[in-house]
Amino acid sequence: MTMTKPYYLTTPIYYVNDKPHIGHAYTTLACDLLARFKRLDGFDVMFLTGTDEHGQKVQEAADKAGIDPRSFTDSVSQNFRHLLGVMNFSNDQFIRTTEARHYASSQALWTRLQERGHIRLDKYAGWYSVRDEAFFTETELVDGKAPTGAPVEWVEEPSYFFDLSKWQQPLLDFYEENPNFIAPEGRKKEVISFVSGGLKDLSVSRTTFDWGVPVPGDDGHVMYVWLDALTNYLTALDWHEDGDDFKKFWPANLHVVGKDILRFHAVYWPAFLMAAELPLPARVFAHGWWTNEGEKISKSLGNVIDPLKLVEEYGLDQTRYFLMREVPFGRDGDFVPDQMIQRINSDLANDIGNLAQRTLSLVFKNLDGQMPAFPKQLQPEDVALIKATDSLLDAVRSEMDKQAFHEVLRLIWDVITKANRYIDQAAPWALKKTDPARMADVLAILLETIRQVAILIQPVMPGSAARLLDQLLIEEGMRDFTSLGSAGRMQGDNDTSPKTISKPEGVFPRYVDESGEGA
Ligand code: MSP
Repeated sequence: MTMTKPYYLTTPIYYVNDKPHIGHAYTTLACDLLARFKRLDGFDVMFLTGTDEHGQKVQEAADKAGIDPRSFTDSVSQNFRHLLGVMNFSNDQFIRTTEARHYASSQALWTRLQERGHIRLDKYAGWYSVRDEAFFTETELVDGKAPTGAPVEWVEEPSYFFDLSKWQQPLLDFYEENPNFIAPEGRKKEVISFVSGGLKDLSVSRTTFDWGVPVPGDDGHVMYVWLDALTNYLTALDWHEDGDDFKKFWPANLHVVGKDILRFHAVYWPAFLMAAELPLPARVFAHGWWTNEGEKISKSLGNVIDPLKLVEEYGLDQTRYFLMREVPFGRDGDFVPDQMIQRINSDLANDIGNLAQRTLSLVFKNLDGQMPAFPKQLQPEDVALIKATDSLLDAVRSEMDKQAFHEVLRLIWDVITKANRYIDQAAPWALKKTDPARMADVLAILLETIRQVAILIQPVMPGSAARLLDQLLIEEGMRDFTSLGSAGRMQGDNDTSPKTISKPEGVFPRYVDESGEGA
């Protein structure tokens, strides 16, 4: 496969004040799905994630743990690395903002902004929410708290300011000229209305604590954690050293973020980049938030969902599938265990699991395991199923590019449903005695559909898809998207070697709870 087109996508970098929870796993999973899809589709992918390790919030968490912030972040950051392995994430890099290369890069961005006259020294007097790491005006407060409900404190200190107010019109023009820059649509409207309401210059340095990147030439200040954090997207590409990765991958194709941090990515970040005269990313997608059985997830309520526990209880690919299928990406979603079990047993065990198991078992039993050749002559019902299968890639690709991951899965499951209807109607098990040739053809059509489905579900369920492709005897080199459609037909004209499968083993087990009951 020739890899030519670069594709750079990023997750937010996660605060290391606490253990990873479902929200962190969710954002990275969405990116993992897309990264894997793009690789299979021939792109040269750079998929970045990492940890955001500076700021008052992290410093306070370290103080509370009684450890210096550097040792504290070294240790908590490991939990996030660990999650990557457990969730089978395929990131190409893991960045930490405490790395020397990141200090160099954020200081370089600062200097660039200062040289262009966009940073000046003044004094900040106003509200600050440590939990949000954000400044708020008096009028933004709701009942004396940040709009997020986080407590605020009064801060008065010398501070450098970035001239954000000057970027209001350039930003509005940019949104208009680049209608796909912010998604979903509803979120875009919120951002536009926020920017249209007027922008105040942004305080970009702090003096009352020191856990951050020192401001170049003024050691009394550390950079505002968001200026430091956003720069990670450039650091990872060795931007300040004029790195090859920067030339190849910047501007980013996509930043995936949660709705709570859209403003930082869709307002501050493009303004910093414009001011620094650097190209802007192509798109920022804001996803929604998970609640736990109707309740906002919070440590104080004790209802935080631990992704490691989900994987342990429900299985890795099952968890991955559920999180991507259950909630339209971009909307808020509610985590309800029964719905997870329902999806595992219905979509996975029944729909695809049984389809594959029934088909492969028939090949194994009725054809002595010999894979049947793709038929030379097709019946109308064969054509209908194969057409639906062959046309999946285009449809799926277009939904992927909109980050409509639930839609991608729905489209694939539509074909699985069609295949189940096909097998029920053609009833190959009844054809062994009456019409063995037709039985072989029916099984060949089904195998072909399962092959393509298995290739297409690799991004969401890499492990299960691989096991299925192994059982179908599909070679490693025939698992990317160039093998979809007629190009990779099994046992067709371009593949004449007889292949014998082993006794098939179910790939998608039913979920059975402790009492032995499936849902
Ligand atoms: N450090 C910043 C991001 C800097 S990016 C340059 C940050 N970190 S965070 O750890 O607090 O949050 C990371 C992500 O987790 C955000 O995208 C946030 O939306 C997401 N989630 C946190 N709780 C969530 C849910 N309950 N549900 C879904 N996602 C949630 O913000």
